[in-house]
Amino acid sequence: MRFLPVFLDLQGASVALVGTGPAAATKLRLLQSAGARVRWYANGSGIAERAIAESAAGHAELIAADPRAADFSAFTAVVSATGDDLDDEIAARAWSHNVPVNVVDRLDLSTFIFPAIVDRGDVVVAVGTGGASPVLARRLRERIEALLPARIGDLAALMGRFRSRAAQVRDGAASLRQFWERVMDGPIGAAALGGRWREAETALARAIERSDDARAQSGVVFLVGAGPGDADLLTLRALQALQDADIIFYDELVTAEILDRARRDAERVPVGKRSGRPGIGQDAINERLADAARKGLKVVRLKGGDPFIFGRGGEELDYLRQAGIEVVVVPGVTAAIGCAAEAGLPLLFRNEATQLTFMSAQHADGVGKTDWSKYVDSKTTLVIYMGLSKAAAVRDGLIAAGRDAGTPAAVLVRGTRKDAKYLTGRLDEIAVLAAFAGEGPGLLVIGDVVARSDIWRNAAARGRESAEMAA
Ligand SMILES: C[S@@+](CC[C@H](N)C(=O)[O-])C[C@H]1O[C@@H](n2cnc3c(N)ncnc32)[C@H](O)[C@@H]1O
Repeated sequence: MRFLPVFLDLQGASVALVGTGPAAATKLRLLQSAGARVRWYANGSGIAERAIAESAAGHAELIAADPRAADFSAFTAVVSATGDDLDDEIAARAWSHNVPVNVVDRLDLSTFIFPAIVDRGDVVVAVGTGGASPVLARRLRERIEALLPARIGDLAALMGRFRSRAAQVRDGAASLRQFWERVMDGPIGAAALGGRWREAETALARAIERSDDARAQSGVVFLVGAGPGDADLLTLRALQALQDADIIFYDELVTAEILDRARRDAERVPVGKRSGRPGIGQDAINERLADAARKGLKVVRLKGGDPFIFGRGGEELDYLRQAGIEVVVVPGVTAAIGCAAEAGLPLLFRNEATQLTFMSAQHADGVGKTDWSKYVDSKTTLVIYMGLSKAAAVRDGLIAAGRDAGTPAAVLVRGTRKDAKYLTGRLDEIAVLAAFAGEGPGLLVIGDVVARSDIWRNAAARGRESAEMAA
C-alpha cells in the first residue's frame, strides 16, 4: 500500500487550487463539498468564474495573483491541475512547506491522491488503486454504489445521534456491539433505510431503554422475496439479508443460483413441496422460523417472487408477530412482473389495457369456483398463477362468461430462468400451449397486450419464415 487512506477534515480549511481546466473545476466541487475554503488561482479564467457561479454551496475565491508568490504555509492542502511546468513549481513549494499536495495526473509530484468516492452523507467509501488506474477505481466504486442502500448515510446519522445515550445504558462493548448489530439488521434499520424516520427514531429510543427485555435478545426473521428465478433480479435488500443470514428456510421455487448468493456458512433448510411430495406444512414452518429466531439467529425465510403475492407471507408475518418476534419484509419481483419484462410484454398499455388482475387458478374448478364474469372486460389483462394444469378450466370459464375466444394469450413457464419457455396464441388455444410448455412453474397471461410483446412478434416472424419456406 503506497497511500494510506485517511479522511481529512477540511471544514473551514484553506486549500489552494491552481489551474483553469475542467479537472480543476471538478476538484473545486469536491473540495467545496468537504467544506473547504478554496483559494482558486485561475488567472482570470472564464471557466473558473462560471464554475464558482454555478457552485451554489461552498466557499471559493478567485485569486488573480501568481500562485508561486502565495504563503504556502497557510494552506491545509494544495491541488494543482495546470498540466504544464507550473505544476512542478507548485508541487516543489508545497513539498518545501510540508503541505500535502495533489497534482492531477502526476503521481510523481503528489503526496496525496483523490480516491473514487461513494458519498452517502455520513457514510463515505473511498476506493483507490494507488493512482494506477482511476478507471478501475471508478468501476469498483460503481459496484459499491450498487450494493449500498441509498439511505445508508441517514441510518449512520441516526445511530450517531443515539450513540452516547446507548453507551450510557448498555454495559460493556460486546453488549453494545450486539445492540447496534440488531438495530442495523432489524426493523429499526429497515425503517431508516426505507425513509420512515419517525418510526425508526421512536423504535430506537424505545430499544435503548428496553435493555433487559428478553425480546431484545431474540433474533429477527426476514421474509424475503427471491424473485422469479434469475439471481440478478434479487433486490439489493434481499441480497444483503442473504449475505447476513445465519439460517435460510427456502421454498421449492428458489433456484440454486439464488442460494449461491447467500452467506457461505449459512444453514440452508428446504421447506417447500418438491416434485409432488408434500412439504413440511405451514404450521411447522411457522414454528421452525420462530424457534430459530428465539435462538438469536438472523433467519431468512426465502420465497419465490414476492412473499405477499400468493406466497403465504401474510400468514407467516401474523404468526411471528403474535409470537413476539421481529419481522422485516423484503419485497421481491413477483413472477408476473419478472416474466413479463423478459418477454417484452407490457402488462398495461395506455387506453388498451387499463386494469391488471393477478389471480390464482387454485379454485379455477371444483369447490369455490371462480366467478369468471369479473374478468371478461377486454381492457383487463389477466395474469393467472398456478394455472398450468387448470388452463382448460380457465379457457372454458372465461369464454363461457363472454371473453372473446380470440383474445391473445401467453403461457410463460420457468420465466427468467435458463430453460424458460414462452408461448403465445389465442385464449381458445391456451390449454394446448400449457401442455406444450412442459413442467412449471408457469403463468397464463390473457389480454390484448400479449399481441404487443416481443414473444408474440417473434412467433409471428417465425410463422412468416416457415410459410415462406413452405411456399
Ligand atoms: C405459490 S405461487 C408463488 C408466487 C410468488 N410468490 C410470486 O410472487 O411470484 C407459485 C406460482 O407462481 C408462479 N411462478 C413462480 N415463479 C415463476 C416463474 N419463474 N415463471 C413462471 N411462473 C412462476 C407460478 O404460477 C407458480 O405456480
